[in-house]
This record gives sequence, C-alpha cells and structure tokens, in this order.
Amino acid sequence: MPKRPGKNAKSSFPCRVAIAIMAAGKGTRLKSRHPKVLHEIGGKPILAHVIATAAKVVPAADIFVIIGHEAERVRQAVGGSGVNFVLQAEQRGTGHALMVAREALAPYDQVIVLSGDAPLITAPTVQKLSSFHNAQNAAMTLLTADLATPVGYGRVLRKSAKSTEVKAIVEEKAANATQKKIREINSGFYAFSGPSLYQHIGELSTDNPHREYYLTDMAGILHRARKKVIAIKTADAAEVLGSNTRAEIVDLDARLRLAKCHQLMAEGVTIFQPQTCLIDSDVVVGADSVIEPFVQLLGKTRIGADCRIRSYSILKDSEVADNVLVNPLTVTDGARIGTGAIVGPYSRLRPGSDIGEGAHVGNFVETKKIKLGKGSKANHLTYLGDAEIGDGVNVGAGTITCNYDGVNKHKTTIEDGVFIGSDSTLVAPVRIGRGAYVAAASCITDDVPADALALGRARQTVKEGWAAAKRGSRNSTQG
Ligand code: UD1
Ligand code: MG
Repeated sequence: MPKRPGKNAKSSFPCRVAIAIMAAGKGTRLKSRHPKVLHEIGGKPILAHVIATAAKVVPAADIFVIIGHEAERVRQAVGGSGVNFVLQAEQRGTGHALMVAREALAPYDQVIVLSGDAPLITAPTVQKLSSFHNAQNAAMTLLTADLATPVGYGRVLRKSAKSTEVKAIVEEKAANATQKKIREINSGFYAFSGPSLYQHIGELSTDNPHREYYLTDMAGILHRARKKVIAIKTADAAEVLGSNTRAEIVDLDARLRLAKCHQLMAEGVTIFQPQTCLIDSDVVVGADSVIEPFVQLLGKTRIGADCRIRSYSILKDSEVADNVLVNPLTVTDGARIGTGAIVGPYSRLRPGSDIGEGAHVGNFVETKKIKLGKGSKANHLTYLGDAEIGDGVNVGAGTITCNYDGVNKHKTTIEDGVFIGSDSTLVAPVRIGRGAYVAAASCITDDVPADALALGRARQTVKEGWAAAKRGSRNSTQG
C-alpha cells in the first residue's frame, strides 16, 4: 500500500495534491529510436522541463511519472529529480496510464495530470488550473486553449458557448466536420478529483479508432454521471503546445530559447540578435554582460557580470567569472575562466582547463586539464595538457607540452614567473623552476632549476659563403 500522502506543503489548499506526468508513450510520429520525452529542447529532455514545472507546484514526493516505452532510459535520464515512477508496461492509451497509477494516486484529493510531451507549461498556469478546479468543486477541469490551427488536438465540446461546463472531448480522428472547426483544444492537462476519477475510470472503453483507453473520454463519462466537468482557457496558447512531430519539437525549442533570451535581457544582459543565439535553459548570465550574435551557451554554463562573449563562440558546461572577454570562435567545454581573463579568438579550452585571473589564452591555443596562473599568457599556437602553470608565466608561440607517451599521461609543472621561448617542447614529466628561462626552440626533457636558463637545441653552424658558392657552381654548369 502506498504511504498516505500528507497535506501538500507547497499547495495553498487544504487538500492533498498529486501531479501525474504521462510519459510512457513511444512517440511514433517522430520516427525515432529514442523515446519522445527524451528528445531535447533548450538543451534538456522534454520531460525534464515538465518535471521542473511540476516541482514548483508540489514536492517531488507527490509527483508520479508514468513510464513505459524504454522505461529504464527515461527513469535514468530524470531520476535525479527525486520523483516517483509508475510503470505502464503496455501502453494502451492515456486513460490506461492513469489506470495503472491507481494505487499511487487514489489516496490524493486532487490529481493534476500533465503531459510529458508538452514542456512549455508554467507553474502559475498549473496553480491556476488547480485552484479553479478546487474553487469550483469540480470532478474534472481541463485546461484548454484557442489555437489558430487546432489540427491533431482533441476538441472541447462545451455545454454552450458561454458555459464553463464541458460535455465531452472529441479526438481529431473521431471528430465530424463541424467539430473539426472548433478551435478550442484540449491541452492534455487536467485537474481531477481523485475519488471521482477512480470511481469512474473503469468505465473507459477502447471503442475508438486506435483501440486505446482515452483519458479524454473521462469528460463525457463524468458529465453523464452528473459530475461537474469544466474548462479553463490559458491566456497564452503556446504553453500547451505538444511535441508530436520533429517540426513541433524544433518549434518548441525555438520558443523556449527566445523566452530564455528575453528572461536574461530582463535581468540586465544584452543579447544582440537573440534569434541567432542558442542558450540552454539552465544557463546563468550576470548583468551587463553582452552576448553577440551566433553565440551558443550550453548545459550548465554560468557567465559572470560585465563579460563579453563574441560571435561564434560555443561555451558548454563552463564557468566564466566577471569581466571576461571571450573573443570570436572560442570553444570551451568544462572550463573555468577567471576574472578579467581574455580568451580567443580561436581558443579551445577542453575539460579541466582552469584559466586564472587576468590570464590570456590566444589564437589556436588548445588546453586540457591545466591550471594557468594569474596573469599568465599563452597567446599563440600552443598545446597545454596536464599542466600546472604558475602566475606571471609567459608561454611562447608554438609551445607544446608532450604529455602522452603512448600509454600514460604525464604532468608538466611550470612555476611562477617562468619564460618559455617560442617553439619549445616540454617532455613530461618535467618541472621548470620558478623564474627560469627556456630558450626558444628547446626540447626540454630534464627538470630546469629555478632562475636557470635551459637550452635544449642543436648549436647553430654557419658556413660562410656556402650559398654563393653553390650558386656559382650552378651558373658554371648552365654556361
Ligand atoms: C492527447 C489528447 C488530446 C490532446 C493532446 C494535447 C488523448 C486521447 N488525447 O493527444 O485530446 O489534444 O494530447 O497534446 O489523451 N502516454 C502514456 N501512455 C500511453 C499513451 C500516451 O503515458 O499509453 C503519454 C505520452 O507519452 C505523452 C502523453 O501521454 O506524453 C500524451 O500522449 P500522446 O500520444 O502524445 O497524445 P496526443 O495524441 O497528443
Ligand atoms: Mg501529444
């Protein structure tokens, strides 16, 4: 037996509220090997957006995600959210999804049903649906919207045009020509009285073109049982859009990202040509930062205040402090960039790159798993991997840390104030002591003591007159 739910902490009502999220379907119309609810918009699974919204309304312990198709994958993808899962092993329709969740949901006074494939719904709208349902003491309240193109959605049959009461929902496939003209659609979001839902759910049948149990039929069933079925219309129809086709997913993604840009702009960020930028839902940007066109900020990226991210840069899961300049075409993944640093153009900062305060990383420089100290510079054509580099170090153009011997990775340590001349190779493991100089074009295989000069290159030989003599002999054979 499930635990008896307590009074809902986040709900303002004196009743126990559960949220069920239907996410067991395959998503046949997507023609995909992957479950529909795991397709991504705004950089995370469609279902994760719905769960995040639900979690703003009730505690995770009162959220029940109904999974079925590829259940384990879905559970793993969103399991971190602390919600409950109910298995619908065979997907026999949205009504069937609620049937299999009976044990979990029946103890609740109110059951809000959300669709795992409609991710733009917001918490205030769910709250409104819930409180309207409660205030009206209804058995079923549906959230509806007027769509210019209602094709594919269930249509709402109200008792009369002005009535809040609903007689039934008719699915697109079963609708007649007059019903198809109705622009008020069923969003797939409902509030039910738990007892009414489970008293009557057994009356659902599979007498429809898909041979499925339609949850939408509950409207007609409850209405005929003289229970109150009502509808509330959303102000913003975009909130109820579903993702049944690829085109719909791409459209939802674009809407979500544009909304994200507007949210950031409202928080003090300038984003030029926001429709060209790809900013994931969880990205944070500080005030007075400027994002230029065609920038991508992905995953868990956090940008501080007063930064400038120039065009064509792609920052993923990276942490950028305040006052940083990221020049064009920089690519970062799992990197940290300290206050006042300048990176790019054309820098590639791979996972574990930690760029210090005021440091510079320039053109065609690749870094991986390094710490670059305060004010240190690596400005041109360089690879720095598995290295700890102190403060005030100058890494000359074309420097390479040879970190890999074909089997293992080794570490290079460069202490504070070191000067590495251009075109040097540092064969790890190796340490360059504080304040030392490495002459240009050196191949350094042994540790260099502090304040020393290390030269690791062949001595130059000059053969006076050699070239002229060569030209002379060529001229004489030509003659
Ligand atoms: C449903 C509604 C339709 C409404 C539309 C809004 C029904 C019969 N129709 O249609 O009136 O306009 O949503 O978007 O409900 N699912 C399960 N188990 C199943 C079948 C589906 O969990 O056995 C899940 C799906 O994963 C999906 C959600 O329920 O997240 C909705 O199913 P879907 O097939 O997309 O229904 P629609 O055809 O969009
Ligand atoms: Mg759908």
